[in-house]
Amino acid sequence: MIHVVRYESPEALAEHVAARFASFLTDEPAARMALPTGATPEPVYAGIVEAVRAGVTSFRRAHVFLLDEFGGVPPDAKGRCDVMLHRALLDHVDVTPQHYHRLDPEAEDLAAMCAAYDASMKPALDLMMLGIGRNGHVGMNEPGTSPESATRRVELAPSTTQASVRYFGEGAALPTWGVTIGLSAILAARTIWILATGESKADIVRDVLLDPVSTTRPASLLRGHPDCWFFVDAAAAAKLPVGVLSRG
Ligand code: F6R
Repeated sequence: MIHVVRYESPEALAEHVAARFASFLTDEPAARMALPTGATPEPVYAGIVEAVRAGVTSFRRAHVFLLDEFGGVPPDAKGRCDVMLHRALLDHVDVTPQHYHRLDPEAEDLAAMCAAYDASMKPALDLMMLGIGRNGHVGMNEPGTSPESATRRVELAPSTTQASVRYFGEGAALPTWGVTIGLSAILAARTIWILATGESKADIVRDVLLDPVSTTRPASLLRGHPDCWFFVDAAAAAKLPVGVLSRG
């Protein structure tokens, strides 16, 4: 079951999702969660940082898993997911360093690193937070990915490589591959939150929610999950009929 919640603006979405996250973490202080990077979650992370600074909640007992990571670019490049998550969240909250799990594309044995990552998420994460690509990818699970896919190395769609210029900057080397949590661990999570803001996401939000479920748009597979929440702002929801929405 997918619940679609619409907010008037990206600011309103960020405020509500951050508050919802703070209550989730306060209720379940030892929760294990995967977190995305990219532009969409940044204002949400700013709200979570504020909540932690204000003493409303704490990451001390929580476990944070990085959702995905770009390979073939320097580990300290500003667009690497690990670097972005530190900048937006981890550097400002009280996550216990041993409780932060990152994917390492430089690992000598990449397959073994991915298998160990999958094993460490078993039996299932409590919360899977996601953004969505304009082609319907979640994490780096590009169109065509099987719902049974594990954590693994993936080749990026050319449009995903191009979109990453927003993270790495003009003129920087852009990644063509990455490592990502697979759809099996995403679909196994107890609850899934997926975030979409801005008019550039309006078409994919409509397709994912209204077209038949298909691996050609991996995010549509989330519709079969028992507890999935799709948080959208007015611009991303612009092409949805009113009937599928709840007001945030
Ligand atoms: C990032 C990730 C990606 C992004 C997606 C949207 O960890 O897994 O799937 O969520 O590409 O990116 P933004 O939010 O920058 O539009």
